[in-house]
Amino acid sequence: MVEDSLSAAAITDGLATRFIGQEISCYPSLPSTNDVAKIRARKGAKEGTVIVAEEQTAGRGRIKRRWLSPRGSIALSMILYPRLAYLPSLIMVASLAVAGSIEQVTNLKAQLKWPNDVLVNGKKVCGILVESGVRGGKVDYAVIGIGVNVNIRLSEYPEITPFATSLSQELGREVSRREMIQSLLVQAEKLYLALPAGDSVFSQWRNRLVTLGKKVQVSSGEATYEGTAESVAADGSLLLRQPDGSLLRIVAGDVTLRQ
Ligand code: BTN
Repeated sequence: MVEDSLSAAAITDGLATRFIGQEISCYPSLPSTNDVAKIRARKGAKEGTVIVAEEQTAGRGRIKRRWLSPRGSIALSMILYPRLAYLPSLIMVASLAVAGSIEQVTNLKAQLKWPNDVLVNGKKVCGILVESGVRGGKVDYAVIGIGVNVNIRLSEYPEITPFATSLSQELGREVSRREMIQSLLVQAEKLYLALPAGDSVFSQWRNRLVTLGKKVQVSSGEATYEGTAESVAADGSLLLRQPDGSLLRIVAGDVTLRQ
């Protein structure tokens, strides 16, 4: 069993960031860290404030799905105040930071699946939910919610076993969540600060997407599309080459790889 305290003091101790995670609140249990982060952001919390919960009782995923966050997982949300132009890039920042931290701390190879999943050995270990408030063309706040299956026995959650995994399951040993969070916060800050410099974050994200070049089925709202995932645009949307040769831009959806 690794020593795995998730107190604010343990996470900030030696944390090599300027602002992300320097203000941090850890709770034993919350309905959803994103909800608390949104309330704190609306009250003017410092940029980089992070909310962590040992477990969530009403964790939320994309498209109104439920997100399981039992003890042993990471559930955290960070508050940022980006310019409107950078809002679509936050998902790229978060996915790259999670993938980087998995590789740094565990040596497992992490893959990104459009739009926001991080996979290990083809199964989902992390989901990301970015929520924001925008008024009059300006971002009031953005909250990046990150859930990582770290030390979880998937056999206890048969509903997600076919397509999900955990870091401990892939490694055969437990992983320090404190180290994972510290690494994730450092990498997220580096990537976030790199956004004004141009397209480097976008190209890193695009280059890591396992989805590209594959035959896929995409469900978006009520519709389902088939084709080849040809590329992604800088706003994060997927460019799907359909069987009739046309190129379809998909802003939000779920991808199933066909090969
Ligand atoms: C998804 O894959 O659908 C996204 C899952 C996002 C889960 C995280 S856990 C921390 C934060 N709080 C939530 O309620 N959801 C996000």
